[in-house]
Amino acid sequence: MPYMKIYNRHAPATMIQATDVILPPATIAILGGGQLGAMLAEAARRMGYRTVCVSASEEDPAGRWSDHHVVGDPGDIALIRRLARDVQVVTVETEGIAPEALTAAAELGCRVAPSAAVQQTVRDRRLEKTFFKHHNLPVGAFCICDSAAQVDAAIAELLPLGGGAGVVAKTARGGYDGKGQRWIKTLHQGAAVWEALGQVPLVLEAAIPFVAEASVIVARSADGRKTALPMFQNEHRGGILFQTRMPGTFEQPTLEKAVALAEATADKLDVVGLITVEMFVLRDGRVLANELAARPHNSGHVTLRAASRSQFEMHIAALCGLPLPPVQILRPGVMTNLLGDLWAGGPPDWTQVLRDSSATLHLYGKGPRPGRKMGHMIHTAADINTAKAMADRAFGLLNDAVARRNMLA
Ligand SMILES: Nc1ncnc2c1ncn2[C@@H]1O[C@H](COP(=O)(O)OP(=O)(O)O)[C@@H](O)[C@H]1O
Ligand SMILES: [Mg+2]
Repeated sequence: MPYMKIYNRHAPATMIQATDVILPPATIAILGGGQLGAMLAEAARRMGYRTVCVSASEEDPAGRWSDHHVVGDPGDIALIRRLARDVQVVTVETEGIAPEALTAAAELGCRVAPSAAVQQTVRDRRLEKTFFKHHNLPVGAFCICDSAAQVDAAIAELLPLGGGAGVVAKTARGGYDGKGQRWIKTLHQGAAVWEALGQVPLVLEAAIPFVAEASVIVARSADGRKTALPMFQNEHRGGILFQTRMPGTFEQPTLEKAVALAEATADKLDVVGLITVEMFVLRDGRVLANELAARPHNSGHVTLRAASRSQFEMHIAALCGLPLPPVQILRPGVMTNLLGDLWAGGPPDWTQVLRDSSATLHLYGKGPRPGRKMGHMIHTAADINTAKAMADRAFGLLNDAVARRNMLA
């Protein structure tokens, strides 16, 4: 049994109340082992808290960044019950954590954020889309499908709305970085799509003719205070986030609509911690909700270097009931993801990348695989176009090096 009662001298004698402020050196449990958990642990430590990560592998970044690492299944209820007696706060860094684990921790008096109910919603596209629709929040046309026949009917209904770009089928659960999705451009693909995506519940959506993608992160405390972070502009390549710009190129009315959508989402869900709303921005400035994350989000990494507070600090502050001051852009910044493809033929040469004095490199220490998020870089400058030019140049150098190595191989 890897778990030992070693990290806590301040176990809650009673249930933690919504208005309670949880101060250092309380212990925050992070369920899940990825880079989001690692950067959360880093922020928590800087703010004076202890952290314990529960994740499956010794090698997981969040385990390495935390004060303590319990190698085990974060969905193991018995394990979470033992852990919950010794920590004040329990949070997650992935939708993969079963809501039942959060219920178990809440029953033992911990502050649990996201709640089991929120976690239930954000890990299922059917519940996310239905949530937006139910609360009259703007969302594109969609259908929920539980059979090949329903997929056929949904294609027929949505195809005329897709404006030639078609319809996208997404698995209700488990998809990320464009995985578990199929684009459809013709009728009668129901059986093929149902088969290809594994005969699981699906959400079908009409293609949205967006001019930009965006995200807004809101930090919200247990007593209902909230602060929206600056709106980010996101560029995806092959379904995976490629680059985030802060600030984006949006007009004031679009910014206001996006923030209103994210704040309404935070309130209606009664979120504690961070909620990220991914959005599509239309030509006329309207925004449509795409999907949710109740945790730090890849687009928010740009705040690590370019904003007055990082998304990770805001998450910890929201969990612990600390003040949630406005988040200012300190300098325009661009975050560029580094995928495992750049490791083809060996680790990249970072010297060129780090030539610009404002550039920072953040590596997660994971084993490289094509399409896997290995790290990111952040470039800041006096204006956003310069920051973007620097980011693109650095990425171009990395890409060229891979192409050269491939030619030599
Ligand atoms: N209905 C849609 N219309 C146009 N593009 C879409 C649509 N749904 C998804 N996409 C594109 O695919 C990307 C990934 O889809 P998303 O639903 O965010 O799934 P995930 O990020 O969980 O893989 C989006 O960021 C967007 O670029
Ligand atoms: Mg997405």
